[in-house]
Amino acid sequence: MNKELIHRVNQHFETRFNTEPLLIFSPGRINLIGEHTDYNNGFVFPAAIDKGIVMAIGESETEHSIVVSMDMNEEVQLDLKNLKRLEDNTWKNYIIGVVAELQNTGKDISNFNCVFAGDIPVGSGLSSSAALENSLALGCNELFSLGLSKNELIHISQKAEHNYVGVNCGIMDQFASMFGQKNHALFLDCKTLESDFVPVRLNDYEIVLVNSNVKHALAESGYNDRYALCQKLIKLLDKPSLREVSVEELKTIKSEISESDYNKGLYVLQENARVIECKNALKENNLHKMGEILFQSHNGQSKMYEISCEELDFLVEKAKHNDSVIGARMMGGGFGGCTINFVLKKDSQKFQQEIKKVYKEAFNKDCSIYKVKLDDGTRIINKT
Ligand code: GLA
Repeated sequence: MNKELIHRVNQHFETRFNTEPLLIFSPGRINLIGEHTDYNNGFVFPAAIDKGIVMAIGESETEHSIVVSMDMNEEVQLDLKNLKRLEDNTWKNYIIGVVAELQNTGKDISNFNCVFAGDIPVGSGLSSSAALENSLALGCNELFSLGLSKNELIHISQKAEHNYVGVNCGIMDQFASMFGQKNHALFLDCKTLESDFVPVRLNDYEIVLVNSNVKHALAESGYNDRYALCQKLIKLLDKPSLREVSVEELKTIKSEISESDYNKGLYVLQENARVIECKNALKENNLHKMGEILFQSHNGQSKMYEISCEELDFLVEKAKHNDSVIGARMMGGGFGGCTINFVLKKDSQKFQQEIKKVYKEAFNKDCSIYKVKLDDGTRIINKT
Protein backbone atom coordinates (compact mmCIF):
# COMPACT_ATOMS: atom_id res chain seq x y z
CA MET A 1 0.00 0.00 0.00
CA ASN A 2 1.03 3.50 -0.76
CA LYS A 3 1.96 5.06 2.62
CA GLU A 4 2.47 8.49 1.14
CA LEU A 5 -1.06 8.40 -0.32
CA ILE A 6 -2.58 7.33 3.00
CA HIS A 7 -0.73 10.13 4.77
CA ARG A 8 -1.86 12.74 2.24
CA VAL A 9 -5.52 11.75 2.39
CA ASN A 10 -5.49 11.59 6.19
CA GLN A 11 -3.82 14.99 6.47
CA HIS A 12 -6.22 16.60 4.06
CA PHE A 13 -9.20 15.28 6.00
CA GLU A 14 -7.84 16.32 9.39
CA THR A 15 -6.94 19.80 8.21
CA ARG A 16 -10.28 20.35 6.54
CA PHE A 17 -12.63 18.73 9.05
CA ASN A 18 -10.64 18.92 12.25
CA THR A 19 -11.24 15.37 13.37
CA GLU A 20 -9.71 11.93 12.90
CA PRO A 21 -11.27 9.90 10.10
CA LEU A 22 -11.83 6.25 9.49
CA LEU A 23 -9.42 5.21 6.71
CA ILE A 24 -10.26 2.69 4.04
CA PHE A 25 -8.19 1.22 1.24
CA SER A 26 -9.99 -0.27 -1.73
CA PRO A 27 -7.91 -1.83 -4.50
CA GLY A 28 -8.23 -1.75 -8.25
CA ARG A 29 -8.10 -5.05 -10.07
CA ILE A 30 -6.48 -6.81 -12.94
CA ASN A 31 -8.17 -9.59 -14.86
CA LEU A 32 -6.17 -12.58 -16.04
CA ILE A 33 -8.94 -13.61 -18.42
CA GLY A 34 -12.73 -13.55 -18.85
CA GLU A 35 -13.73 -10.26 -20.42
CA HIS A 36 -17.39 -9.23 -20.87
CA THR A 37 -18.41 -12.62 -19.53
CA ASP A 38 -19.57 -11.41 -16.11
CA TYR A 39 -22.83 -9.79 -17.25
CA ASN A 40 -23.49 -12.99 -19.19
CA ASN A 41 -23.45 -15.04 -15.97
CA GLY A 42 -20.13 -16.51 -17.05
CA PHE A 43 -16.66 -16.99 -15.57
CA VAL A 44 -13.97 -14.42 -14.79
CA PHE A 45 -10.50 -14.64 -13.27
CA PRO A 46 -9.54 -11.30 -11.71
CA ALA A 47 -7.29 -10.31 -8.80
CA ALA A 48 -7.12 -7.28 -6.52
CA ILE A 49 -3.91 -5.26 -6.75
CA ASP A 50 -1.75 -3.20 -4.44
CA LYS A 51 -2.96 0.05 -5.98
CA GLY A 52 -6.33 1.67 -5.50
CA ILE A 53 -8.20 4.32 -3.58
CA VAL A 54 -7.61 5.60 -0.08
CA MET A 55 -10.67 7.15 1.52
CA ALA A 56 -10.98 9.08 4.77
CA ILE A 57 -14.50 9.34 6.16
CA GLY A 58 -16.07 10.71 9.34
CA GLU A 59 -19.44 11.84 10.64
CA SER A 60 -20.56 15.43 10.11
CA GLU A 61 -22.60 17.54 12.49
CA THR A 62 -23.83 19.77 9.68
CA GLU A 63 -26.93 19.56 7.48
CA HIS A 64 -25.06 18.24 4.47
CA SER A 65 -22.29 15.86 3.47
CA ILE A 66 -19.11 16.89 1.69
CA VAL A 67 -17.02 14.61 -0.50
CA VAL A 68 -13.64 15.78 -1.80
CA SER A 69 -11.74 14.22 -4.70
CA MET A 70 -8.13 15.26 -4.18
CA ASP A 71 -7.06 14.04 -7.61
CA MET A 72 -9.72 16.03 -9.42
CA ASN A 73 -9.39 18.95 -7.06
CA GLU A 74 -13.18 19.02 -6.85
CA GLU A 75 -15.82 18.45 -4.24
CA VAL A 76 -19.50 17.78 -4.04
CA GLN A 77 -21.98 18.75 -1.36
CA LEU A 78 -24.81 16.27 -0.84
CA ASP A 79 -28.27 16.73 0.56
CA LEU A 80 -28.94 13.21 1.77
CA LYS A 81 -32.69 13.75 1.76
CA ASN A 82 -32.69 14.53 -1.91
CA LEU A 83 -30.08 12.58 -3.85
CA LYS A 84 -30.24 12.83 -7.60
CA ARG A 85 -27.97 11.74 -10.40
CA LEU A 86 -26.03 14.70 -11.82
CA GLU A 87 -26.18 15.39 -15.52
CA ASP A 88 -22.43 15.94 -15.92
CA ASN A 89 -21.49 12.31 -15.63
CA THR A 90 -18.45 12.47 -13.35
CA TRP A 91 -17.05 10.74 -10.27
CA LYS A 92 -19.78 12.44 -8.24
CA ASN A 93 -22.42 10.05 -9.56
CA TYR A 94 -20.51 7.08 -8.12
CA ILE A 95 -20.72 8.73 -4.70
CA ILE A 96 -24.36 9.75 -5.04
CA GLY A 97 -25.19 6.30 -6.35
CA VAL A 98 -23.61 4.39 -3.48
CA VAL A 99 -25.27 6.54 -0.82
CA ALA A 100 -28.65 6.38 -2.56
CA GLU A 101 -28.42 2.61 -2.98
CA LEU A 102 -27.48 2.24 0.69
CA GLN A 103 -30.56 4.28 1.56
CA ASN A 104 -32.63 2.03 -0.72
CA THR A 105 -31.86 -0.90 1.55
CA GLY A 106 -33.82 0.97 4.23
CA LYS A 107 -30.69 1.91 6.20
CA ASP A 108 -30.28 5.29 7.79
CA ILE A 109 -27.25 7.28 6.67
CA SER A 110 -26.36 10.43 8.61
CA ASN A 111 -24.28 13.24 7.20
CA PHE A 112 -20.61 12.56 6.67
CA ASN A 113 -17.45 14.12 5.29
CA CYS A 114 -15.13 12.28 3.02
CA VAL A 115 -11.82 12.80 1.22
CA PHE A 116 -10.31 10.39 -1.27
CA ALA A 117 -7.41 10.00 -3.69
CA GLY A 118 -5.96 7.12 -5.64
CA ASP A 119 -2.93 5.71 -7.38
CA ILE A 120 -4.67 4.00 -10.27
CA PRO A 121 -5.26 6.10 -13.34
CA VAL A 122 -8.94 6.62 -14.20
CA GLY A 123 -9.97 4.92 -17.45
CA SER A 124 -7.02 2.54 -17.54
CA GLY A 125 -9.11 -0.61 -17.18
CA LEU A 126 -7.99 -1.19 -13.58
CA SER A 127 -11.40 -0.34 -12.18
CA SER A 128 -10.85 2.76 -10.15
CA SER A 129 -14.66 3.00 -10.24
CA ALA A 130 -15.25 -0.22 -8.28
CA ALA A 131 -12.54 0.85 -5.83
CA LEU A 132 -14.34 4.16 -5.29
CA GLU A 133 -17.76 2.53 -4.87
CA ASN A 134 -16.49 -0.16 -2.52
CA SER A 135 -14.48 2.23 -0.36
CA LEU A 136 -17.55 4.39 0.24
CA ALA A 137 -19.88 1.42 0.73
CA LEU A 138 -17.56 -0.17 3.29
CA GLY A 139 -16.82 3.20 4.91
CA CYS A 140 -20.53 4.00 5.46
CA ASN A 141 -21.23 0.45 6.60
CA GLU A 142 -18.59 0.80 9.31
CA LEU A 143 -19.23 4.42 10.24
CA PHE A 144 -22.98 3.99 10.67
CA SER A 145 -22.90 0.36 11.83
CA LEU A 146 -25.24 -0.66 9.02
CA GLY A 147 -24.50 -4.34 9.49
CA LEU A 148 -24.42 -5.13 5.76
CA SER A 149 -22.31 -8.05 4.59
CA LYS A 150 -19.53 -7.58 2.02
CA ASN A 151 -21.70 -9.49 -0.38
CA GLU A 152 -24.51 -6.99 0.05
CA LEU A 153 -22.05 -4.13 -0.29
CA ILE A 154 -20.74 -5.23 -3.70
CA HIS A 155 -24.28 -5.38 -5.04
CA ILE A 156 -24.88 -1.87 -3.74
CA SER A 157 -21.73 -0.74 -5.57
CA GLN A 158 -22.89 -2.45 -8.75
CA LYS A 159 -26.38 -0.92 -8.55
CA ALA A 160 -24.81 2.52 -8.08
CA GLU A 161 -23.04 2.02 -11.39
CA HIS A 162 -26.18 0.73 -13.15
CA ASN A 163 -28.58 3.34 -11.86
CA TYR A 164 -26.46 6.44 -11.30
CA VAL A 165 -23.53 6.13 -13.70
CA GLY A 166 -25.42 4.38 -16.48
CA VAL A 167 -23.12 1.42 -17.12
CA ASN A 168 -24.70 -2.04 -17.12
CA CYS A 169 -21.58 -3.57 -15.64
CA GLY A 170 -21.29 -7.10 -14.29
CA ILE A 171 -20.09 -7.98 -10.79
CA MET A 172 -16.44 -8.81 -11.52
CA ASP A 173 -14.83 -5.52 -10.53
CA GLN A 174 -16.73 -5.00 -7.31
CA PHE A 175 -16.20 -8.63 -6.32
CA ALA A 176 -12.47 -8.64 -7.01
CA SER A 177 -11.91 -5.30 -5.32
CA MET A 178 -13.84 -6.36 -2.22
CA PHE A 179 -12.70 -9.96 -1.81
CA GLY A 180 -9.17 -9.99 -3.26
CA GLN A 181 -6.49 -12.06 -1.52
CA LYS A 182 -2.76 -11.48 -1.50
CA ASN A 183 -0.96 -13.49 -4.21
CA HIS A 184 -4.20 -15.07 -5.40
CA ALA A 185 -6.49 -14.68 -8.37
CA LEU A 186 -10.21 -15.27 -7.95
CA PHE A 187 -11.89 -17.70 -10.28
CA LEU A 188 -15.46 -16.49 -10.06
CA ASP A 189 -18.65 -18.03 -11.35
CA CYS A 190 -20.79 -14.95 -11.91
CA LYS A 191 -23.97 -17.02 -11.96
CA THR A 192 -23.61 -18.48 -8.48
CA LEU A 193 -20.94 -16.09 -7.10
CA GLU A 194 -18.99 -19.16 -6.01
CA SER A 195 -15.30 -18.42 -6.09
CA ASP A 196 -12.08 -20.33 -5.99
CA PHE A 197 -8.93 -18.53 -4.83
CA VAL A 198 -6.08 -19.76 -6.98
CA PRO A 199 -2.46 -19.04 -5.94
CA VAL A 200 -0.61 -17.20 -8.69
CA ARG A 201 2.93 -18.56 -8.89
CA LEU A 202 4.69 -16.88 -11.72
CA ASN A 203 8.12 -18.45 -11.20
CA ASP A 204 10.50 -16.63 -13.56
CA TYR A 205 7.76 -14.36 -14.91
CA GLU A 206 6.12 -11.16 -13.77
CA ILE A 207 3.00 -9.23 -14.65
CA VAL A 208 3.59 -5.98 -16.53
CA LEU A 209 0.69 -3.71 -17.40
CA VAL A 210 1.10 -1.40 -20.36
CA ASN A 211 -1.35 1.48 -20.44
CA SER A 212 -2.09 2.61 -23.99
CA ASN A 213 -3.21 5.91 -22.47
CA VAL A 214 -6.22 5.72 -24.74
CA LYS A 215 -9.04 6.64 -22.36
CA HIS A 216 -12.08 4.48 -22.48
CA ALA A 217 -15.20 6.27 -21.36
CA LEU A 218 -17.23 3.15 -20.55
CA ALA A 219 -20.54 4.96 -20.38
CA GLU A 220 -20.20 6.46 -23.84
CA SER A 221 -18.45 3.47 -25.31
CA GLY A 222 -19.77 0.32 -26.86
CA TYR A 223 -19.96 -1.35 -23.44
CA ASN A 224 -23.71 -0.94 -23.08
CA ASP A 225 -24.15 -1.86 -26.75
CA ARG A 226 -22.44 -5.18 -26.10
CA TYR A 227 -24.65 -5.73 -23.08
CA ALA A 228 -27.75 -4.94 -25.14
CA LEU A 229 -26.66 -7.30 -27.90
CA CYS A 230 -26.20 -10.18 -25.44
CA GLN A 231 -29.69 -9.47 -24.09
CA LYS A 232 -31.05 -9.59 -27.63
CA LEU A 233 -29.35 -12.92 -28.31
CA ILE A 234 -30.74 -14.61 -25.20
CA LYS A 235 -34.21 -13.33 -26.01
CA LEU A 236 -33.99 -14.89 -29.44
CA LEU A 237 -32.71 -18.11 -27.90
CA ASP A 238 -35.22 -18.01 -25.07
CA LYS A 239 -32.49 -18.58 -22.45
CA PRO A 240 -31.85 -16.82 -19.13
CA SER A 241 -28.27 -15.93 -20.13
CA LEU A 242 -25.50 -16.82 -22.60
CA ARG A 243 -24.09 -19.07 -19.88
CA GLU A 244 -26.88 -21.54 -20.64
CA VAL A 245 -26.23 -21.48 -24.40
CA SER A 246 -24.12 -23.99 -26.34
CA VAL A 247 -22.41 -23.31 -29.67
CA GLU A 248 -24.94 -25.63 -31.36
CA GLU A 249 -27.80 -23.62 -29.91
CA LEU A 250 -26.26 -20.34 -31.00
CA LYS A 251 -26.00 -21.74 -34.53
CA THR A 252 -29.77 -22.19 -34.64
CA ILE A 253 -30.26 -18.40 -34.82
CA LYS A 254 -27.34 -17.73 -37.14
CA SER A 255 -29.54 -16.93 -40.11
CA GLU A 256 -31.61 -14.45 -38.08
CA ILE A 257 -28.70 -12.28 -36.99
CA SER A 258 -25.75 -10.53 -38.64
CA GLU A 259 -22.41 -12.27 -38.89
CA SER A 260 -20.93 -9.71 -36.55
CA ASP A 261 -23.62 -10.35 -33.91
CA TYR A 262 -23.12 -14.09 -34.26
CA ASN A 263 -19.37 -13.70 -33.74
CA LYS A 264 -19.95 -11.63 -30.64
CA GLY A 265 -22.19 -14.31 -29.14
CA LEU A 266 -19.68 -16.98 -30.07
CA TYR A 267 -16.90 -14.96 -28.45
CA VAL A 268 -18.71 -15.02 -25.09
CA LEU A 269 -19.13 -18.81 -25.24
CA GLN A 270 -15.49 -19.31 -26.23
CA GLU A 271 -14.17 -16.88 -23.62
CA ASN A 272 -16.04 -18.75 -20.88
CA ALA A 273 -14.34 -21.97 -21.96
CA ARG A 274 -10.97 -20.19 -22.02
CA VAL A 275 -11.35 -18.97 -18.44
CA ILE A 276 -11.70 -22.55 -17.24
CA GLU A 277 -8.77 -23.70 -19.37
CA CYS A 278 -6.66 -20.85 -18.06
CA LYS A 279 -7.49 -21.63 -14.45
CA ASN A 280 -6.49 -25.26 -14.99
CA ALA A 281 -3.25 -24.26 -16.71
CA LEU A 282 -2.35 -21.98 -13.81
CA LYS A 283 -3.17 -24.67 -11.27
CA GLU A 284 -0.96 -27.10 -13.19
CA ASN A 285 1.75 -24.44 -13.27
CA ASN A 286 1.69 -24.56 -17.07
CA LEU A 287 2.40 -20.89 -17.71
CA HIS A 288 3.10 -21.34 -21.40
CA LYS A 289 -0.34 -22.80 -21.94
CA MET A 290 -1.85 -19.98 -19.93
CA GLY A 291 -0.02 -17.47 -22.11
CA GLU A 292 -1.30 -19.04 -25.33
CA ILE A 293 -4.85 -18.85 -24.02
CA LEU A 294 -4.35 -15.16 -23.25
CA PHE A 295 -3.30 -14.44 -26.83
CA GLN A 296 -6.36 -16.33 -28.10
CA SER A 297 -8.50 -14.31 -25.75
CA HIS A 298 -7.17 -11.06 -27.17
CA ASN A 299 -7.82 -12.24 -30.68
CA GLY A 300 -11.46 -12.87 -29.75
CA GLN A 301 -11.76 -9.48 -28.07
CA SER A 302 -10.31 -7.74 -31.08
CA LYS A 303 -11.73 -9.64 -34.05
CA MET A 304 -15.00 -11.04 -32.72
CA TYR A 305 -16.28 -8.97 -29.82
CA GLU A 306 -14.68 -5.84 -31.29
CA ILE A 307 -13.77 -4.11 -28.06
CA SER A 308 -10.09 -3.51 -28.75
CA CYS A 309 -8.51 -0.58 -30.59
CA GLU A 310 -5.51 -0.01 -32.83
CA GLU A 311 -3.20 0.86 -29.95
CA LEU A 312 -4.11 -2.21 -27.86
CA ASP A 313 -3.77 -4.50 -30.89
CA PHE A 314 -0.36 -2.99 -31.57
CA LEU A 315 0.81 -3.59 -27.98
CA VAL A 316 -0.35 -7.21 -27.99
CA GLU A 317 1.17 -7.84 -31.41
CA LYS A 318 4.55 -6.53 -30.23
CA ALA A 319 4.32 -8.67 -27.11
CA LYS A 320 3.56 -11.73 -29.24
CA HIS A 321 6.72 -11.21 -31.25
CA ASN A 322 8.85 -10.84 -28.17
CA ASP A 323 10.30 -14.16 -26.98
CA SER A 324 10.34 -12.96 -23.37
CA VAL A 325 6.56 -12.54 -23.25
CA ILE A 326 4.49 -15.71 -22.87
CA GLY A 327 1.06 -14.13 -22.95
CA ALA A 328 -0.67 -10.77 -23.37
CA ARG A 329 -4.09 -9.33 -24.03
CA MET A 330 -6.18 -6.23 -23.56
CA MET A 331 -7.81 -6.01 -20.17
CA GLY A 332 -11.08 -4.68 -18.78
CA GLY A 333 -14.00 -3.08 -20.58
CA GLY A 334 -11.89 -2.36 -23.66
CA PHE A 335 -11.72 0.47 -26.20
CA GLY A 336 -8.50 1.61 -24.51
CA GLY A 337 -6.77 1.16 -21.18
CA CYS A 338 -4.12 -1.45 -20.42
CA THR A 339 -2.74 -4.67 -21.75
CA ILE A 340 -1.64 -7.36 -19.32
CA ASN A 341 1.66 -9.06 -20.16
CA PHE A 342 3.43 -12.05 -18.62
CA VAL A 343 7.10 -11.27 -19.08
CA LEU A 344 10.32 -13.10 -18.18
CA LYS A 345 11.64 -11.21 -15.15
CA LYS A 346 15.21 -11.08 -16.37
CA ASP A 347 14.17 -9.49 -19.68
CA SER A 348 11.41 -7.29 -18.30
CA GLN A 349 13.37 -4.02 -18.32
CA LYS A 350 14.36 -4.53 -21.91
CA PHE A 351 10.78 -5.37 -22.89
CA GLN A 352 9.50 -2.23 -21.19
CA GLN A 353 12.05 0.01 -22.88
CA GLU A 354 11.36 -1.48 -26.29
CA ILE A 355 7.61 -1.27 -26.04
CA LYS A 356 7.81 2.37 -24.94
CA LYS A 357 10.00 3.20 -27.89
CA VAL A 358 7.99 1.47 -30.61
CA TYR A 359 4.69 2.73 -29.19
CA LYS A 360 5.92 6.30 -29.29
CA GLU A 361 7.17 5.84 -32.83
CA ALA A 362 3.89 4.37 -34.00
CA PHE A 363 1.38 6.66 -32.29
CA ASN A 364 3.42 9.69 -31.29
CA LYS A 365 2.28 9.34 -27.70
CA ASP A 366 3.61 7.65 -24.59
CA CYS A 367 2.40 4.46 -23.04
CA SER A 368 2.79 3.97 -19.27
CA ILE A 369 4.05 0.88 -17.52
CA TYR A 370 2.83 -0.41 -14.15
CA LYS A 371 4.05 -3.31 -12.11
CA VAL A 372 1.42 -4.59 -9.74
CA LYS A 373 1.29 -7.10 -6.91
CA LEU A 374 -1.77 -9.17 -6.12
CA ASP A 375 -3.13 -8.04 -2.80
CA ASP A 376 -6.02 -8.13 -0.32
CA GLY A 377 -9.45 -6.61 -0.93
CA THR A 378 -11.23 -3.52 0.47
CA ARG A 379 -10.37 -2.95 4.12
CA ILE A 380 -10.27 -0.52 7.01
CA ILE A 381 -6.66 0.47 7.55
CA ASN A 382 -6.61 2.44 10.77
CA LYS A 383 -8.61 0.38 13.22
CA THR A 384 -7.01 -1.82 15.82
C1 GLA B 1 -15.80 -3.45 -16.90
C2 GLA B 1 -17.04 -3.85 -16.09
C3 GLA B 1 -16.97 -5.32 -15.65
C4 GLA B 1 -16.63 -6.24 -16.82
C5 GLA B 1 -15.45 -5.71 -17.61
C6 GLA B 1 -15.23 -6.48 -18.88
O1 GLA B 1 -14.66 -3.46 -16.09
O2 GLA B 1 -17.19 -3.04 -14.97
O3 GLA B 1 -18.18 -5.69 -15.04
O4 GLA B 1 -17.75 -6.44 -17.64
O5 GLA B 1 -15.61 -4.34 -17.98
O6 GLA B 1 -14.88 -7.79 -18.59
